[in-house]
Amino acid sequence: MSTFKQQPHKLLVIPGPIEVADEVLYANAHPSMSHMSADFVPVLGDCIRMTRDVLYSTTAQPFIMAGSGTLGWDQVAANLVEPGEYVLFLNTGYFGEGFVDCLRVYGAHVDELQAKFGGAVPLSDIEQALASKKYKLIACTHVDTSTAVLCNVKAVAEIVKKTAPDTLIAVDGVCSVASEEIRMDAWGIDVVVTASQKGLGTPPGLSIVVASQRAIQVFENRVTPVAAYYASWKKWLPVMRAYEKGSAAYFATPPVNLVYAYRASLDRITKSSPTLEERFTLHREASKRIKDAVAELGLKQLPVDSNSSANGMTAIYFPDGFTASDIIPRMAQRDVVVAGGVHKDYKDKYFRIGHMGISVVDKERGDVEKVITALKESFAEARASKIV
Ligand SMILES: Cc1ncc(COP(=O)(O)O)c(C=O)c1O
Repeated sequence: MSTFKQQPHKLLVIPGPIEVADEVLYANAHPSMSHMSADFVPVLGDCIRMTRDVLYSTTAQPFIMAGSGTLGWDQVAANLVEPGEYVLFLNTGYFGEGFVDCLRVYGAHVDELQAKFGGAVPLSDIEQALASKKYKLIACTHVDTSTAVLCNVKAVAEIVKKTAPDTLIAVDGVCSVASEEIRMDAWGIDVVVTASQKGLGTPPGLSIVVASQRAIQVFENRVTPVAAYYASWKKWLPVMRAYEKGSAAYFATPPVNLVYAYRASLDRITKSSPTLEERFTLHREASKRIKDAVAELGLKQLPVDSNSSANGMTAIYFPDGFTASDIIPRMAQRDVVVAGGVHKDYKDKYFRIGHMGISVVDKERGDVEKVITALKESFAEARASKIV
């Protein structure tokens, strides 16, 4: 164990990037290595195997490359949908809109089921849509970071299996992997798109996508060529398979140091205490504490139903007469960094707190208490300042 300690800093509790453990940052400071060296090969190999573990899969194919969450949308759109094919999208916010936009760039015909603001798409609407047309793919944002709405992926998958079993299921898990349960094999999910900087507790810079063997087969049987270069699985599949088997292969240089950091974080998530299941419980508990404190302050959250509300973040409306400038700087003065709104129609009306990774798992840090205290004090001070 290294003695490295990061500089004192304000607590980062936006919904990603999140606080990163000392040992993960220290792993990032590994001496520069050849990406083709025998020493590095098992590091990426371990990341591939442990990424699969985080999603409770034994057979799915992880793709780990330099990029961000957005590159996962390109991978889904470019590799799994051929131009003119139909996609059904469950849209619960800003990030859903981005995913839809990306699918259309590659020629998909996307039908959107638009949730009411703060709500999830009703399961009956999904069933009806699937029964009315043949879709190559159904996709959703597991947690839309703009609204904190949680999609019931398990229930959606059950409907797909019953109504349209050939339809592939893709989940944007950028704001949910490692903070919300996802059981790829048991639920029959075909693709999970994520990134390093949220629940996975690593600095930003990795695009992480996991595809079921069924999805890989669909990709391998496609008729038209993949209309992407960097995002093409034709390029990446041999590379990922080689590293997992223990030999190097090259398509584009991986972010070597970040891969060391990711392995350090995955070691904690999949191989040490608390277990992955316990982590989900810790995320639920921390989320409840923050949401209870928000309710005690008389504040309203964006999600209209607590069953469709994320456990890794909270989105909170400003009360009437208050704006971001009343609260966010006051939180920052107390060394707590939260995020403003991001949804195009409502962005000035709310703010967001992330509670993922070490901030909730490592209770000794006291991050949840610090957030709650800063919230209470900031609102008390802001309210007092309005009284003339
Ligand atoms: C749900 C969701 N999807 C996709 C993205 C895009 O990821 P990135 O910013 O890493 O490209 C984000 C980013 O916050 C997100 O929250």
